[in-house]
Amino acid sequence: MNTIVYTSNTGTTKEYAKLLSDKLSLPYYSLDEIKYKVKPGSKIIYLGWIMASGVKGYKKVVKDYDVRAVCAVGMGATGTQVKEVRTKNKIPSSIPIFTLQGGFDVKKLHGIYKIMMTIMVKTAGKGLANKQDRTQEEDQMLEMMLHGGKYVDEKNLKAILDWYGKRGE
Ligand SMILES: Cc1cc2nc3c(=O)[nH]c(=O)nc-3n(C[C@H](O)[C@H](O)[C@H](O)COP(=O)(O)O)c2cc1C
Repeated sequence: MNTIVYTSNTGTTKEYAKLLSDKLSLPYYSLDEIKYKVKPGSKIIYLGWIMASGVKGYKKVVKDYDVRAVCAVGMGATGTQVKEVRTKNKIPSSIPIFTLQGGFDVKKLHGIYKIMMTIMVKTAGKGLANKQDRTQEEDQMLEMMLHGGKYVDEKNLKAILDWYGKRGE
């Protein structure tokens, strides 16, 4: 593996890229800077934030680089949404996907993202607030929508670190 590449909007994906870089002793770069730093065709681990199940930047990066694993960072719990992410982004089954919980804070968003998520907080947030018997995961989601929250944790990297340790090159 040569490099870790990431796309981040509010910073949580970048934090995971840095944590992973420290763990694997690999350099990490944003998608915008790789063309000056990383040769096309290089083997990379790609981290992108999840937007409506899409992984930001994946379609672009996969054209020029040999993506060996995808980490998709969202507000949902670590390890969830893998099937939706694979389908939506057409990620082949040969590429493992690891979803990681980042966070959410509507105050950190701008432009169209802020508009989209303000609507989401009003609709989905209201639905959750009115729901009886919320699960722990739903409580966390509601709290995040109402007050913001960040759940970046190196423990969430366990699955990708296990995969990295076992992979053959
Ligand atoms: C427009 C928009 C759509 C989003 N859609 C999803 C989603 O489908 N699933 C999810 O888990 N998180 C979703 N999120 C939450 C982000 O993926 C989450 O806040 C992530 O931590 C952002 O990463 P960043 O801090 O690197 O920008 C969405 C956020 C925005 C702004």
